[in-house]
Order: sequence, then structure tokens, then C-alpha cells
Amino acid sequence: MFVKFVVLFLLLWGSIASQLNDIGFTYNGFGGVNMGLDGLAQITDNGLLLLVNTTKQQMGHAFYPHPLHFMSSSTGSVFSFSTTFVFAMFTQFTSIGGTAMAFVMAPSKKFPGASPAGYIGLFNITTVGNSSNHVIAVEMDTIKSPEFNDIDGNHVGIDINDLKSAQSAPASYFSDQENRYVNLTLFSGQAMQLWVEYSGPQKQLNVTLASIDVPKPTIPLLSLNIDLSPIVVDPMFVGFSSATHTFDVHNYVLGWSFKMNGKAKELTLSQLPKLPRFGPKKKSKMFSVGVPVIVVTLLLVFIFIIQFIVKTKKKFAEVLEDWESEYRPHRFKYRDLYIATKGFKNNELLGTGGFGRVYRGVLPRSKAEVAVKRVSYNSTQGEREFVAEIVSIGKLRNRNIVPLLGYCRRKGELFLVYDFMPNGSLDKFLFDQTTIGKMLNWNQRFRIIKSVAAALLYLHEEWEKIVVHRDVKSSNVLIDKEFNGRLGDFGLARLYDHGTVPQTTHVMGTLGYLAPELCRNGKANPSVDVFAFGIFLLEVACGRRPIEPQASKECVLLVDWVLSSWGKGMILDTVDRKLGMNYEVEEIELVLKLGLLCSHSIPNARPYMRQVVRYLEGEVPLSDITLLGLSTTTNDKTLVSLGSTVTRSSSVVAESVLSGGR
Ligand SMILES: *[C@@H]1O[C@H](CO)[C@@H](O)[C@H](O)[C@H]1NC(C)=O
Ligand SMILES: *[C@@H]1O[C@H](CO)[C@@H](O)[C@H](O)[C@H]1NC(C)=O
Ligand SMILES: *[C@@H]1O[C@H](CO)[C@@H](O)[C@H](O)[C@H]1NC(C)=O
Ligand SMILES: *[C@@H]1O[C@H](CO)[C@@H](O)[C@H](O)[C@H]1NC(C)=O
Repeated sequence: MFVKFVVLFLLLWGSIASQLNDIGFTYNGFGGVNMGLDGLAQITDNGLLLLVNTTKQQMGHAFYPHPLHFMSSSTGSVFSFSTTFVFAMFTQFTSIGGTAMAFVMAPSKKFPGASPAGYIGLFNITTVGNSSNHVIAVEMDTIKSPEFNDIDGNHVGIDINDLKSAQSAPASYFSDQENRYVNLTLFSGQAMQLWVEYSGPQKQLNVTLASIDVPKPTIPLLSLNIDLSPIVVDPMFVGFSSATHTFDVHNYVLGWSFKMNGKAKELTLSQLPKLPRFGPKKKSKMFSVGVPVIVVTLLLVFIFIIQFIVKTKKKFAEVLEDWESEYRPHRFKYRDLYIATKGFKNNELLGTGGFGRVYRGVLPRSKAEVAVKRVSYNSTQGEREFVAEIVSIGKLRNRNIVPLLGYCRRKGELFLVYDFMPNGSLDKFLFDQTTIGKMLNWNQRFRIIKSVAAALLYLHEEWEKIVVHRDVKSSNVLIDKEFNGRLGDFGLARLYDHGTVPQTTHVMGTLGYLAPELCRNGKANPSVDVFAFGIFLLEVACGRRPIEPQASKECVLLVDWVLSSWGKGMILDTVDRKLGMNYEVEEIELVLKLGLLCSHSIPNARPYMRQVVRYLEGEVPLSDITLLGLSTTTNDKTLVSLGSTVTRSSSVVAESVLSGGR
């Protein structure tokens, strides 16, 4: 009975005693928690326990304020206990810095004589290693101190009264998922979790570390067989200690759970306070990664822009010499012409002539429609005179002349900008089968003839200088909106003359319109234009090209044909069939005869343009006496001379084509 009572009492007492000693606490953050703080230790506004901040060579302590009984007073054995906490360590200077923090069990919350540097705020040079310390600590150490036999600068160790760890290992954890050890960097500023568990019966102290985002590893990092009873005194305090070597160190505890005689309650990670953004770290990242990236990006952008500018500059490069400054108002920007013609697209091509290609364009600013003639040349000699001439032609103001608006020069290229003539050139109306619907009637043709004659008169006699067009032909007569003819394409024959265009020969102009004397002496004077104008008259009246290789032998040359028909008194047989009978006989006869007169092989026999205009206006009749030089007796001679002209000029052209290397 007594024994029973004693047993009952003992059991009851034991349970009460164990209940008394089953103390436990869990802090998911330290906001409002009563902690014994000293040194630098503080609780931040958002509930982080900050052990040390940026002050160097300092320490901080944070302890559970009440002492705990770790020992059974009856048996003298140390209770099992379990604790876990989440911490983060951060510094800006990982290379030179160093810090350590520790979970500590000690007889006192205060460490008055402790040194910060290297002693984690727990010991000093005289006390370290003395068994009378009664300190059990688990250190997270980022300093390799040879005097304490540290294995590296990133380790976890169990310290008993000493900083020479009883056991230590590089910071890492066993990943059950990957079945291998995963290294951690204590100084990363990343939150990590640590478990310290002591089994009283087994006398084993286990320390387990893990990254915050993995569950507790099954295999502890450290496992030390040790009986803590010689070390533990009753009661003891539990808490954290930390010290800094250098400045700018932040060691945090985010949450802490402790349990005597049992398993510490798991922390609720989602409730833990947020770590501050490690500004300096971010900044360092910014400096180590961001700034170079930005610099490189800016550099690339810069290079790109420069390249673009250079490319654009090159693309739109022009040749502009000092002497051209006076012609500035007549100069166009290549860039504008490029934009106007959509980059000289084939879609915008109006035609291709012997001198170059003509493109339609709309000027970017004025929205004016223009025709841009692009001429290639490969020499710089004579350019100056040429430009002067172009500009002077630009000053020509006559309603029968296609206005030349200006020019532009690039290396090897010349651009002439003309007013755009929507109806194109006369030859299309005369010869093109497809535009037959737009056939010109005799009145229109006669009007065009008169306007071209007026244009030539203006060039030869009425302007301040004598201008020889040198390339009068139906394809150089452009038709404006009101179906007036306008003479265009000036000066290019001159360009050939200066030898600046490839495939040049001494004689320029178009085969079939070349005055015979031009082939002999190459000298251009107004009578050369009169000759070509004569051919032009025949062209318009007959609706035939000056040379028709497919025609029967006597009819190859238009002049021959008209001349022989005239000789036979059947000149009206040569009139364009497309006109039917819808023409004025006197007018058409006049035009045909005048055509023959003007295209006379002897220059002196040709009339001046002033006379031509008078004939056309009917002011002076064109009598057959005037045409005496074309009488049948001299006819053969003329034919021979004309024939030889053609042969010669054909060979000239053939030569030029060959030498041009096309
Ligand atoms: C570091 O903490 C101490 C103590 O709380 C404080 O006086 C000091 O201003 C803090 N230093 C910095 C740089 O925050
Ligand atoms: C070490 O600490 C003890 C008290 O813990 C103190 O008496 C002693 O003066 C300290 N020694 C040094 C060198 O700081
Ligand atoms: C350990 O510390 C105690 C008390 O401070 C002192 O009496 C003893 O001499 C120290 N032992 C050693 C080896 O320094
Ligand atoms: C982990 O760290 C140890 C020592 O610091 C090193 O020997 C080992 O190679 C590291 N392992 C990995 C996977 O980086």
C-alpha cells in the first residue's frame, strides 16, 4: 500500500515536474516579443530580430528572457530538447568581411568581457576554451580562423566552451530529393533554417541545416555523440549571439521555436517577417551586372546609331563642290529625290533613254510631281561648265519648254529634275499601238509642231545665249495636260560633248536625226537642230519613225520616201493613215515640204527657225522655188549623201556600244 502510494506519488510528481519542464515557445517573427537584448541587437519594425547591423567590431545578444531548467533535479540527466530557427546573414564585402552568429546555451544572458572580433561575442582570449564557461553553441561562421582550426569560411560547427568546434562541416544540406549534399552560402543574404536537437537518452546532439524552400532533411549535417550533463548548469539561458569583424554586416533571425522534452513546433514560414531588400547587395549586383549590361547596351545602341548614320550618309551622299555654291538654289537633295522616287523603284520608271532612266516622283515637302532623270557618268571634267549650263537652262522660261527645276550630283551620277508631264512623250502617241485610242488628231499635231518650233526659235534666237538642243526628236517632246507640246531633255548632248558620259563618241544625238555635217566635223550649231526638226516634222505628219528597217528598200529612210513621193507629185501618200482624211491638206503639205527643206543635207540650204515659224504661221508662203534645192536633179546626190550619213552614224553608234562595254 505504501509502496503503491510512493509509486503513485513519484509518477504524479514526475508528471508535474516534467510538465513544469515541458516549456516551449514559438515565434513566427519577433514583433512584440519580450527578448533580452544587448549590444547591437534590436527588433526591427517589421518583427525581424537583427543581431548586428553596420557597426563594425561590435556584438549583439538576444536571449529568451527566462532561465530554463535543462536538468532533471532528481536524476541529474539533461533533458531532450529541440529548437529550430530561420536566419539570414548578409554583408556587402564577402571577400574581406566576416561575421559569425550562433545559437547559444549559457549560464548568463550577459557576456561582459567578451571580444567581438572572432569570438562571436561569447569569449575573449583568456576565457576561450575554459570549461568553466559552460557554453554550448552552434555557430554559423563565415570566417576561417586558423587558431580555432576552422575548416573554411562557410561552415556550421558545434562549440563546447570553445571556438575550436567539437564538430563542423561546410554549410550544406542533404537533399532527399536529389540524394546528394547541396552547398549553401551562409553569406548569401538568403534565409536558411537550422534545427538543433538533443536526445537525452541517446546523448546525441544533431544539427541540421537547410535552405528555406526545402523540408527538413532526414540526414543531419552534424551529429555529435556527447553527454551534455558536465557542461550544462542549472538553469541556463537560450538565445543568439553575433559579432562583426567588419562594417556592413546584417545578421537576422526571422523566427524561432523551442521545446524542452519534445519536438519544437514547426515555424509557419509564410508568417515570418520579410527580410529587407539588401540594397547594397542589389546595388553591387547592379554595379557588377547592371552597369556593364547598360553600358554595353548603350554602346551597342550608339554603334548602331552611328552605323545607321554612316550608312544613311553614304546612301544619301552627294558631291557638292565649292564652285557649286552659287547654284545652290537649283540643287536638290539626293535624299529628297530618293524619297520622291521611292528609292528609284522600277515601278516609278517612266522611260529609259540613251542618256539615262527617267523616274516619276513626288517631292516630299512640296508634294510636287516631278520627273527625275538619272544619268551616269564617269568623269569629272567639264562638270563645271555643264552644271552652269544646266542652271542656265533652268532659267529658261518658255511655255514650250519643259521646265528644268534643278539638279543633284553624286559620285558618278547626275540627276536632273523636271516638271512632270502627265501625258508622256509624243512618240508614244505617234507610234505606240497601245495608245492608239489616244491618237492625236491633226489639229493637235499641228499645234505641237508649232510649239516645238517656237521653243527652238526661243533657244536659237530669243534667249540671251544661243542654245543648241542637239537632240530634237519626238521622244523629247512631252505632252502637257492641255496637249501642248513641250521640248525637253536639254543639255544632255552637251554632257556627252564634255566626255563625261560613258559610251561617248564624238557625235551625239539620235540616229536618224543627225545632220550629216555633224558626223563630219562634230560641230553643233543651230542648223543641226533645224535638220532634226525637219525629220521631226515628217515623223509627225507621216506617223512613222525616221528609219524603218523592215520597210521596202526605198522606204527605209523616211526622208527618202517622202522626197521620192514628192518628186512623183504624190506627197500626200505619205500622210499618216491613222489620220484618215481628217486633216487640212495645205497644212500637211506645208509640214511635209518644210520637213524636207529643214532636213536638207546642206546646212546652208536649211531655213532658220525664225523662217520656219513664219512658214508655219502662214505669214510667208513656202513656194516651190524655195524647195528648188530639193529638185529631182539634185535628188540623187542628196539621197547618196543622206544614205552615207546613216551608214556612218550607224557605225558610230555601233562603235560606241562596243566601247561602252554594255
Ligand atoms: C545599428 O544599431 C544600433 C543599435 O540599435 C543603432 O544605434 C545604430 O544607429 C545602427 N546603425 C545603423 C547604421 O543602422
Ligand atoms: C575576459 O573576460 C573576463 C570576464 O569574462 C574578464 O574578467 C577579462 O578581463 C577579459 N579579458 C580580456 C583580455 O578582455
Ligand atoms: C578558467 O576560469 C576559471 C574561473 O574564471 C579560472 O579560475 C581558471 O584558472 C581558468 N582556467 C584556465 C586554464 O585558464
Ligand atoms: C561543396 O563544398 C565543398 C567544400 O566547400 C566542396 O568540396 C564541394 O565540391 C562543393 N560541392 C558542390 C556540388 O559545389
